[in-house]
Amino acid sequence: MTSMRAAVLLLGLGVSCRAQFAPPAVTISLDDAPEVRWDPLVKVFDVDYLRKAAAEVIDTTVPKWLYRAVKPLVKDLEKYIPQPYAGELRGLASHLGDVSDVIILNFAYEISAFCTSIVAQDKKGNVYHGRNLDYPHSVLRNLTMDVIFIKNGEVAYRGTSFAGYIGLWTGQSPNKFTVSGDQRVCVCLWSSGSDRWWNWWKNVVSALFFRRFPVSWLVRETLEEAEDFQDAVMRLAKIPIITGVYYIVGGARAGEGVVITRDRMGPADIWPLDLLTGGWFRVETNFDHWLPPPARDHRRDAANKALNATGQENINLETLYQVLSLYPVCNGVTLYTTTMSAAAPEKYNTTIRPTGCPPN
Ligand SMILES: *[C@@H]1O[C@H](CO)[C@@H](O)[C@H](O)[C@H]1NC(C)=O
Ligand SMILES: *[C@@H]1O[C@H](CO)[C@@H](O)[C@H](O)[C@H]1NC(C)=O
Ligand SMILES: *[C@@H]1O[C@H](CO)[C@@H](O)[C@H](O)[C@H]1NC(C)=O
Repeated sequence: MTSMRAAVLLLGLGVSCRAQFAPPAVTISLDDAPEVRWDPLVKVFDVDYLRKAAAEVIDTTVPKWLYRAVKPLVKDLEKYIPQPYAGELRGLASHLGDVSDVIILNFAYEISAFCTSIVAQDKKGNVYHGRNLDYPHSVLRNLTMDVIFIKNGEVAYRGTSFAGYIGLWTGQSPNKFTVSGDQRVCVCLWSSGSDRWWNWWKNVVSALFFRRFPVSWLVRETLEEAEDFQDAVMRLAKIPIITGVYYIVGGARAGEGVVITRDRMGPADIWPLDLLTGGWFRVETNFDHWLPPPARDHRRDAANKALNATGQENINLETLYQVLSLYPVCNGVTLYTTTMSAAAPEKYNTTIRPTGCPPN
């Protein structure tokens, strides 16, 4: 069923390039061993296409000299990767080729994602959460998928990811909480291309030695283990991770919405909804909310204005989607938009933006 839908979707792409569409859904059973649980992926995606796409992402993301330098080291790294992630990466490698490439690919995605996340509450106390994922690789639109994680025959949690990538930047634990991650960009990251990459790889290696998590693995672990919104916020705020990030979390009850600004070792700032003083929504892009964004980046401002214009009485998943469709909140490199609400888990909705959003 799902593979047929995916085949139809892929065929459809050639014909109507502009129509927005839902990504294929892949069901992963956490009761299966980590080495085989991603096998359903190759029933939904063509393996040759996946291999080519992975090679293209690595080729255009990781500088060649660095790729050559780290590839021999990555095999050693494998023994420091915790379970189940090590097993899952090895299982993917049995389809996609080479375990060091799969590891490099998984860590390559950890950098250079630009995003917008919004959490908002309506007048009745319903909490909504939406996110755009921006990434300058068009091929990832074809690799975007909703992943449904099953445990003991029930949906444990779900999320949106790219085929071949085991972490989550977007996810939902039904009736508990929703979470999205936005990259935290500091001025130093803008500076120089190759240095940035070299420093970043040093961080990855040292972090794994010290058993720190990639940010998207912590999202998955939290979806899997947290009891409720508060527990999720605690874990996402405190557990050491490889690099800084913003975690945006929405709950199932009124008042449950927060933007967590993360340093590697813990929280730098916690910014909750504050209904009493008019704070019925929070917008996070890629910069600390207490500082002005770079002069050329108007996403935060545009989203704030659009939410103000929408009004708390009119906010819902549909109007939230409309805010996330406005240029430049949605822009040329926006890959997908997800809207969700923990209290209404069946409404989880990812829409792919086949050509991003043009300026108007
Ligand atoms: C996505 O897949 C379609 C159909 O297989 C293909 O025509 C298109 O070129 C792909 N896009 C990218 C960016 O690879
Ligand atoms: C949104 O509205 C609030 C309250 O009316 C105002 O303080 C704020 O400046 C507005 N923000 C934008 C971006 O228009
Ligand atoms: C998902 O959201 C998009 C955009 O609002 C909408 O067009 C589509 O119908 C929604 N899909 C479902 C299954 O609700």
